[in-house]
Amino acid sequence: MYRVLFVCLGNICRSPMAEAVFRDRVSRAGLAGAIEIDSCGTGDWHLGKPPHEGTRSILDGKGISYEGMLARRIGREDGERFDLLVAMDESNVKAIREAIGTRTRAEVVRFLSFVPGAALADVPDPYYTGDFDETYELISEASDRLLAHLLESGKVRPADGQQG
Ligand code: 4NP
Repeated sequence: MYRVLFVCLGNICRSPMAEAVFRDRVSRAGLAGAIEIDSCGTGDWHLGKPPHEGTRSILDGKGISYEGMLARRIGREDGERFDLLVAMDESNVKAIREAIGTRTRAEVVRFLSFVPGAALADVPDPYYTGDFDETYELISEASDRLLAHLLESGKVRPADGQQG
């Protein structure tokens, strides 16, 4: 099992969208049994809350489930449990490193680093921009690229998906 954790600031806009979209892509690829997917925030303002209305509206429109998803904060143990921590922006990368410390084998990367030639380095925060469509388009592209990367790098093998 390969474990991926999406991380943003509040865990109500970007990282829940990424969690839901990536899970949908992974599931469609028949790899639900091979990759564990979760999300969290570096801040604690929205603990226990469902995704933001804007994120829910986008996901509803795409027919992508966010059932049962509630905001939680990153903890040191996330650096031990997950293989890959995917940050929405550079400030998240810094906050993640502070939260998980240095004694971890987890990889910490920016989500858009998986998109070759991406015009942006960071996924814009729709909590401030109000543009959930722009954020969805970037997350959608990056999700496809991330899945392709995990398969091409051999971190996830198609046969793993059949184990449940
Ligand atoms: P997110 O957006 O990090 O994409 O979930 C935010 C949500 C809430 C806040 C900031 C960003 N906030 O300051 O409450």
